[in-house]
Amino acid sequence: MTDLAALLTVDELEAAARERLAPAAYDYYRSGADLEHTLRRNRDAYEGYAIAHRAFVDVSSPRLSTTVLGSAVATPILVAPTAYHRLACEDGERATARAAARAGSLYVASTLATTRLEDVADAAPGAPRWFQLYVHKDRDFTARLAARACAAGYGAVVLTCDTPVLGRRLADVKNRFALPPGLTMANLVEALPPDLASGDGSELARYVASRLEPALTLADLRWIVDAVAPIPVVVKGVVRGDDAARALDHGARAIWVSNHGGRQLDYGLPTVDALSDVVAAVGGRAEVYVDGGVRSGAQALVALGLGARAVFVGRPVLWGLAAGGEEGALRALGLLTEELTRAMQVAGCPTLEAAREVVCKRGCAR
Ligand SMILES: Cc1cc2nc3c(=O)[nH]c(=O)nc-3n(C[C@H](O)[C@H](O)[C@H](O)COP(=O)(O)O)c2cc1C
Repeated sequence: MTDLAALLTVDELEAAARERLAPAAYDYYRSGADLEHTLRRNRDAYEGYAIAHRAFVDVSSPRLSTTVLGSAVATPILVAPTAYHRLACEDGERATARAAARAGSLYVASTLATTRLEDVADAAPGAPRWFQLYVHKDRDFTARLAARACAAGYGAVVLTCDTPVLGRRLADVKNRFALPPGLTMANLVEALPPDLASGDGSELARYVASRLEPALTLADLRWIVDAVAPIPVVVKGVVRGDDAARALDHGARAIWVSNHGGRQLDYGLPTVDALSDVVAAVGGRAEVYVDGGVRSGAQALVALGLGARAVFVGRPVLWGLAAGGEEGALRALGLLTEELTRAMQVAGCPTLEAAREVVCKRGCAR
């Protein structure tokens, strides 16, 4: 048994996860596109910011609770959609859903989950949840998937727009990475091509190439918005202000700055560097979220200070899940929330909004 309480950082959770995961599963979770510049830069870009703490502020009761599209959450550290949680532990996405609920967080279930979206909903019935949607070439199938999510009580549909084709993750190609026997893309059973398991390279890359829509346009966004109304649509995978504005003009209700955790495009813009432009372009019309490379509460504070309403994490939750199942995923969310709380207190921020007063570019006095 991993002693979760002894693991004090997300990086320590990752080390524990690595010991427990099959090497190909660890590679799948960890890797980024091509030479992994974007993967590294997402995290390193936080080096470009600083927190100018304020003194003489009463920080005895910091308030981390907020809302995202009207759903109340106790922490702004939320769970990004990631595929294949049953590689990490038997209970997979169910364990993640329960951990997110216990943390007062929000779980975004992936289209590529290894558990049916209805079963994820049943695992944490009272908790807020969103569903991440990949648009398939088969629009009827896409519409059925979105309708299932709405029927199962998902409060928003998150349309991922950064995956016209799958980025090349070298480890997965070399490992010929595929789901082990007994696991499946549970939401997609009716769409799975019979020959999916055979062939070179990554199984997921073959699925994406054969089934997902490489010609996703703003018209598709409008189509999904109309199809799921009144459930709101969040657009995930934006790093440019102009794209954010166009998405809002076509019915998106919130913008999620993301480069898919550096898994799609090498030399992609680090998300923390993209955030300010997107926030400016959105101009208060909608909520803006961010993910990518957040491994500490202080980094989350920087993202909030640059205008994010909430910060999503992908791999940290997977590391927790692999290190200790539901308790491990809870540990990941708890660690980040504890770190954020302490960072807010030391920075003189009694509220999340106050983060805007203290974050600056490194080297610039406020
Ligand atoms: C193993 C893995 C699987 C992912 N699967 C999906 C997915 O199915 N859909 C999606 O929109 N994003 C997916 N993502 C991207 C995450 O939602 C998120 O953008 C990213 O993990 C954030 O970066 P971080 O891992 O550095 O926190 C995945 C990321 C990882 C690491």
